[in-house]
Amino acid sequence: MFEHLTQQPADKILALMTAFRADTRAEKIDLGVGVYKDATGNTPVMRAVKSAEKVLLETQDSKSYVGLAGDPAFADSMIDLLLGDAVARSSVAAAAQPGGTGAIRQALELIRNTSPDATVWLSNPTWPNHPSIIKYLGMKSAEYRYFDSETRGVDFDGMVADLAKVKKGDVVLLHGCCHNPTGANLNLTQWQDVIDLLNKIGAIPFIDIAYQGFGDGLSEDAAATRLVAASCPETIIAASCSKNFGIYRERTGLLMVITQDDAATKLAQGTLAFLNRQNFSFPPDHGARIVSTILGDATLRADWEAELEETRNGMLALRGQLADELQRLSGSDRFGFLAQHRGMFSRLGTTPELVEKLRTDHAIYMVGDSRMNIAGLNAQTVPILAQAIIDAGI
Ligand code: LMR
Repeated sequence: MFEHLTQQPADKILALMTAFRADTRAEKIDLGVGVYKDATGNTPVMRAVKSAEKVLLETQDSKSYVGLAGDPAFADSMIDLLLGDAVARSSVAAAAQPGGTGAIRQALELIRNTSPDATVWLSNPTWPNHPSIIKYLGMKSAEYRYFDSETRGVDFDGMVADLAKVKKGDVVLLHGCCHNPTGANLNLTQWQDVIDLLNKIGAIPFIDIAYQGFGDGLSEDAAATRLVAASCPETIIAASCSKNFGIYRERTGLLMVITQDDAATKLAQGTLAFLNRQNFSFPPDHGARIVSTILGDATLRADWEAELEETRNGMLALRGQLADELQRLSGSDRFGFLAQHRGMFSRLGTTPELVEKLRTDHAIYMVGDSRMNIAGLNAQTVPILAQAIIDAGI
């Protein structure tokens, strides 16, 4: 049977990881996959994560199954972290998932189950896994404009014009903060306009949030998600703990479904458990327990928040340094957007050919659409990147 398999297209981000590892040039710079790196290029285990793992090692007395939706303490602590008091806990159905991707996949299965004809609207551009999973599931999708290639900010007029074509019952996928791959984000007034539009149409917002704490702060980065959850009758949220807890390989995420109707919330909770059972039975627990241990302990939580703040401030400083360096070298403000963008990524806004040239001539690796992982830089490599950008004629 297996001779009938066809070659699958390589995932562009993951293929870049492989190419980087194979490059023998000592000066190579990895701005590819969205993994946080400190100034030495290491992806550290966060202090609070180490401490929580010690607590678990000492206190955990069983590795038996938990529940199909995962540990309720994990869901409660994540709902509190993300949604605060925006909605009543009783209106949120939630189930732990294997990472943010797992939560997205399961959300799409849920949408397909309940509304097979719904179109899922995606920003252009978006994280490549979104269209890829939608296509794999045989669902309908459409794009809305998002990125203004001149200003490198959000093309809000284009976005609103495209979202006006959304039909009742369609789903609109929005990045809660730190848009991947562009780094360009809506302000809260624009979020309110999008909410009003979706409510007028009767469309359902689906928020992917993987970088809470990487933009402006934990509550600042959650503000848009809270506004949506509090203002829309139904909201779907896929949250990842990979980045803000640095537990990438533990596969820790939460899918939330918010409704205004108790019976619908109960149905959603049952369906999330059912979907988990069909796909993998019980979700991974170790990462989830690390998260709930940290969030449930004042000392660990304070340490986690402090380290997350150091991480965020480090990325903001690199953004500022890169924008300043490029202003100095180019004698213009055209790279000022780098300091305005938020999160791990910025889309430089250049051609795949020039991205390739940076790789060939300077051993600088970024995704072909010119997405750069700012956390792949340090104070020494910023001037090297800036000079390479100018030399390449970008
Ligand atoms: C990324 O966008 O680079 C990360 O979210 C990693 C991934 O799985 O693609």
